[in-house]
Amino acid sequence: MSILCVFLQYVDAIKSVGCGKAVSANLTRGGVGSSNNITYTTTSGVKRTMLLHIPINYDINSKTPLIFSFHGHGRTGAWQENLTRFSDESFNPDMFVVYPDGINAMWQGDPDAPGYDDVSFVLELIKSLEDEFCIDKARIYSSGQSNGGGFSLNQLACDPIASNKIAAFMGGSAAAYQGTSDVGCNAATVPFDCNPGRDFIPILETHGLNDTTIAYYGGPRKDRCLPTIPHFITEWAKRDGLGSSNITTSQSSGNVIKYQFGASIHATGLVTHYRIQGMGHSWPWKSEGHYIDATEIAMEFFNNYRLDGAW
Ligand SMILES: *[C@@H]1O[C@H](CO)[C@@H](O)[C@H](O)[C@H]1NC(C)=O
Ligand SMILES: *[C@@H]1O[C@H](CO)[C@@H](O)[C@H](O)[C@H]1NC(C)=O
Ligand SMILES: *[C@@H]1O[C@H](CO)[C@@H](O)[C@H](O)[C@H]1NC(C)=O
Ligand SMILES: *[C@@H]1O[C@H](CO)[C@@H](O)[C@H](O)[C@H]1NC(C)=O
Ligand SMILES: *[C@@H]1O[C@H](CO)[C@@H](O)[C@H](O)[C@H]1NC(C)=O
Repeated sequence: MSILCVFLQYVDAIKSVGCGKAVSANLTRGGVGSSNNITYTTTSGVKRTMLLHIPINYDINSKTPLIFSFHGHGRTGAWQENLTRFSDESFNPDMFVVYPDGINAMWQGDPDAPGYDDVSFVLELIKSLEDEFCIDKARIYSSGQSNGGGFSLNQLACDPIASNKIAAFMGGSAAAYQGTSDVGCNAATVPFDCNPGRDFIPILETHGLNDTTIAYYGGPRKDRCLPTIPHFITEWAKRDGLGSSNITTSQSSGNVIKYQFGASIHATGLVTHYRIQGMGHSWPWKSEGHYIDATEIAMEFFNNYRLDGAW
């Protein structure tokens, strides 16, 4: 077999089954507010709803990346679209975005969540979307706010299978509950239950120092233990083989501190955290006084990573 032939087979493998399939006539394309409320019934018979953003320039023959954006506890996919604006084509001109609704408005990982296996739901949903649309299987990304951020960084990224399907993971104000109780909770040392299926998993987190819901320095919450954000992020760097030291950069007169782990040319910032002065339990927006636009930063981050290794 020639090298070219092997190469073409490889490229083919990252195009999904849905390539070439016409888009259903009742689906609309476009920015925030033009997304489609679709229902997916899981193999176990649970109906799950979500908003699906289809880019205006979607070409059914070109493999197209996909972003998940998971809402916080008590919110909806529609709320999350408005909060993060990944459907706004000035931030994201090319990628699909899915904003699923959690069961009882929560995600696996929240101590109050009703016990659905949301990781399996996401894996099934990825397959279903790949069957329907031309998805770039090497460029599927995950993000979320609060409980949704924890679901992204602490459930999906820690899952042996999901970590091999999703190229990079982001979370805002992430709630990464640990353990089964809050007894003896030491936020700076609490161990993690995390079993990713590959090395070098890209991780991005944004968090406000004035967050009074998911405190920056963690502690007991809902009978569980929340880690400090520096501990959470440093453990990801260690798990990724990047060591525990970071490059610290002060931005916006010290109101934003960016911590990047990883030293080689491919890995600088593979694990990155933005600490934001004065911000509460929010998704960072410059227009709301948070100095950075988290959506813009997440898009830059996602664009750096793909599963086929061509960084
Ligand atoms: C589009 O039509 C399909 C098939 O008739 C239906 O299952 C689906 O719910 C519709 N989607 C929307 C967003 O109306
Ligand atoms: C989709 O529609 C269902 C049923 O009307 C609703 O419960 C759900 O909140 C909607 N989802 C989104 C993401 O808008
Ligand atoms: C969308 O978010 C903006 C800014 O936070 C807010 O003012 C507006 O009420 C929200 N709209 C909806 C429909 O939730
Ligand atoms: C980054 O390194 C500095 C200096 O060692 C340390 O003070 C800081 O806590 C580290 N940041 C994180 C997020 O671990
Ligand atoms: C953030 O918290 C500090 C310490 O509690 C307080 O002094 C400051 O006013 C708060 N900043 C904002 C923007 O709320």
